[in-house]
Amino acid sequence: MRKINVFDTTLRDGEQSAGVNLNFQEKVEIAKQLERLGVDIIEAGFPASSQGDFASVQAIARTVKGSSVTGLARSIERDIDTAWEALKDSAEPRIHTFIATSPIHMQYKLRMTPEQVIEHAVASVKFAAAKFPHVQWSAEDASRTELPFLAKIIRAVIDAGATVINLPDTVGYTTPYEIGEMFQYVTKNVQNIDKAILSTHNHDDLGMAVANSLAAIQNGAGQVECTLNGIGERAGNASLEEIAVALQIRQDHYQAKTGLTLNEIKRTSALVSKLTGMVVPNNKAVVGANAFAHESGIHQDGVLKNKETYEIITPELVGVSSNRMVLGKHSGRHMFKEKLTELGFTGTDEQLQTIFVAFKELADKKKDITEDDLFSLMTEASVGV
Ligand code: KIV
Ligand code: ZN
Repeated sequence: MRKINVFDTTLRDGEQSAGVNLNFQEKVEIAKQLERLGVDIIEAGFPASSQGDFASVQAIARTVKGSSVTGLARSIERDIDTAWEALKDSAEPRIHTFIATSPIHMQYKLRMTPEQVIEHAVASVKFAAAKFPHVQWSAEDASRTELPFLAKIIRAVIDAGATVINLPDTVGYTTPYEIGEMFQYVTKNVQNIDKAILSTHNHDDLGMAVANSLAAIQNGAGQVECTLNGIGERAGNASLEEIAVALQIRQDHYQAKTGLTLNEIKRTSALVSKLTGMVVPNNKAVVGANAFAHESGIHQDGVLKNKETYEIITPELVGVSSNRMVLGKHSGRHMFKEKLTELGFTGTDEQLQTIFVAFKELADKKKDITEDDLFSLMTEASVGV
């Protein structure tokens, strides 16, 4: 079973979600919870981007000792120096520096030739490696980069001292098949690749960030970058909870696992949602309010007989206390009787049938049937509890 390092970027790429702005205390609180969750690396921010970010990265680097802490820096000396000032007190100082490598980014954004980009990347990695014991280098927009150029620049930055090579799908453009090919190409064509760990970082513009992350892991990535609840630029980043639980539940398929304390997932998700104001949709995998709720009578009956009929993840695995049976118009007699018995119903089967018919009529008009509704139905049918 391969161990995959989890690099959480909730506090950096996640905070780049439109409308999100975490203050110092909030960032430190989330970092402490990420440490409890057991993430290997916390990307705490982008120290050169603002005084506030510098202060929170520095505080996290000084406080969190159970996870490694990193910060983002462009390929410029001022950014790397600022990152060093913010991170030098961390348990294992680590920098994340990047430059774009795709033709469109090099031509229009950087206005540099490919050779100039290699020179910049090598110089910045050497400069960083003189200070930091761990240097992660990212090829921004790697998934739209020409593969021979990607291999050439990766080889050069590893020679310059990079220990982690991250290949982001910056604009969420790639597919699971293509990302697999990219990782295989790099593994086969970069002669010194065994000196570095390969990392994957995916955005969700086409809804494939998690699938792409898992495909990269299958094709050699030893580190996965993600955020809680999948928050991040535009449509967001690959969601940590979905990747971690997919690896856990489908160990047979992926033969890889994380070192996360999975039962801290729900609590971490709720904290991130509360502090960022990014609401988790009810149907979100793993952490949504409905992730362990059953409404249809057929499903409820199955789960009451054997949970595995409709539950592939136990709620306890991710820190949810139990599954939830929702009483609604699709509910069946089996669940209805269980619920009434829980509330103290002691009537006959005939009385149960009368209340069940009244319940179905009410459920056609009202989405959520509460315990108060059930007590009223029992009272109307003159059934003692
Ligand atoms: O999406 C991206 O390319 C990034 C890099 C800075 C790693 O977030
Ligand atoms: Zn990103």
